[in-house]
Amino acid sequence: MKNSTWFVFILLYSGITLGQTPIVIPDTLSGTNIALNMHNDSVQLFPSGPKSKTFGYNQFAYLGPTIILNKGQVANFDVTNSIDDTTTVHWHGLHVPAMWDGGPHTPILAGEIWHPTFKVMDHASTYWYHPHWHMKTAKQAIKGAAGLIIVRDSTERSLNLPRRYGVDDFPIIIQCQQYDSLNQAMPLGMQDSTILVNGARANNGYSVYGDFPAQIVRMRLLNASGERSFLFGFTNDFPFHQIGSDGGLLNEAFHTTRILLSPGERAEILVNLSTLNGQTLQLMSYASELAMGIQGGPTMPMPNGPPMDSPLNGIDFNILQINVVAPTINPVTSIPSTLENNIPFLASDANVTRTIRFTADSMMVMDGPFYFNDSLFNMMRIDYNIPLNNVEIWKLVNETMVAHPFHIHDVQFFLLNRNETVMPTPSESGRKDVILVPPGDSLKFITKFEDFADSMVPYMFHCHILMHEDAGMMGQFVVTESFAGNSEIEPNNQILNVYPNPSNSILKVNMPLGKSTSEIVIFDNVGKICFQTTSSKDEESIDISQFENGIYMISILRENQYFHQKFIKK
Ligand code: C2O
Ligand code: CU
Ligand code: CU
Repeated sequence: MKNSTWFVFILLYSGITLGQTPIVIPDTLSGTNIALNMHNDSVQLFPSGPKSKTFGYNQFAYLGPTIILNKGQVANFDVTNSIDDTTTVHWHGLHVPAMWDGGPHTPILAGEIWHPTFKVMDHASTYWYHPHWHMKTAKQAIKGAAGLIIVRDSTERSLNLPRRYGVDDFPIIIQCQQYDSLNQAMPLGMQDSTILVNGARANNGYSVYGDFPAQIVRMRLLNASGERSFLFGFTNDFPFHQIGSDGGLLNEAFHTTRILLSPGERAEILVNLSTLNGQTLQLMSYASELAMGIQGGPTMPMPNGPPMDSPLNGIDFNILQINVVAPTINPVTSIPSTLENNIPFLASDANVTRTIRFTADSMMVMDGPFYFNDSLFNMMRIDYNIPLNNVEIWKLVNETMVAHPFHIHDVQFFLLNRNETVMPTPSESGRKDVILVPPGDSLKFITKFEDFADSMVPYMFHCHILMHEDAGMMGQFVVTESFAGNSEIEPNNQILNVYPNPSNSILKVNMPLGKSTSEIVIFDNVGKICFQTTSSKDEESIDISQFENGIYMISILRENQYFHQKFIKK
């Protein structure tokens, strides 16, 4: 092209482009002690009018740092709530004790600091964190309260995969939001038409680009949208390999041109850019190919005229422009043929099949409320008592006209089949914690409830369309060592001795764990912190005479280990 042609081209191009920004690669946090601080912030997302109010973690005005954890390590968190509302932080996809899972029973009140601590037991994969305060999850997550978690393990490390964060391994958080006329995010909007990539606007006159090296690169895709599903692919059907699903690597790299991610789902893909040096490629959503009933797909014809839907529905659009630049030193040049050895649980080992029907008041309901088995979420109702180590089949039956991404906490599962006869595709044959159930379909998955029994703090399962979740498309289960959720004292911890138990005035806590400082926290039966102190003594006396009668949990953190036990105030 001649210089003058370039000039005209650039003029034309800048005329239609309000902003072209390089992809933001969030800073990382790693190590044993990780501090998150959720705060109010604001961002000038729109060229005119007020800034959009946001939530961010740490130095970010929107989204949060990427947390990097190693399987086997202990991670201690300080989560500070600096917003003017209650929140929680949930480690989506991680297998952690219920009391540290960050569900709606463990609120962090405004101004408080929460100290979860757990051992990382998960397979290498891409997970994420976000608030889970009931009826506020959409509001908080959609204003930016979310971040990625990358878990590494020895299996993944032994493979020749791109893993240089921000160099050949790229975190890509995609959101689609609706903003009102004052530029504020609308958590319940059905006309979501603003695409954000790692927090930057990526459509309607804006675009986000990444300079990716001409070699095999890895992209960690997270759909952090409130409702929209994306059918990702590249321009001209440029092929790629999916190597991971929600909770780990697939057994083998899966060669494909499309990947569907519903809200909450993640996938890791490898793209071989080695032949494209100097060229560009778009990561797109091929929403025209989505089935009707999947949010983002073609709008369903309605008897009373079309619903107020997003202009993005059913069309193909760009998400991220990839400018292919010179390769790095030591590029990864081949894709390992085998990755993991996932061994799904055997259906013959399952003790129980639970059926969860997705229901609504009528077949015509498009925007909720939606129910599980005809009932709304109730904080005070435990939907299932699951014996520790149970292998279970969950059958999900979608009786509504809308696709719902079903998510379960605590575990990763394996899809057994869709509609009884359709075996999982390679894309869905790995470890999963979210799965999309299209309208009218059913599916079965199998999982095992291991390691963490707690008859008091439940785990959640819910639709990951955040508006559906907040409106009550959620349930909860406890995993118990004994059946029927009995809440007797289980003296399962000799290191920590709490006595007398029951007690009515002074509770003695014996912790012969060395001389370092302990954090002591007492939670009530809904997970609210009612007492907190630090101590470096062997024995501490705590006055509980002002506590209401009931069951409490005491949790002690000392030398990177935590201990917890229940006691009764009588
Ligand atoms: Cu991503 Cu229960 O949540
Ligand atoms: Cu979760
Ligand atoms: Cu739903």
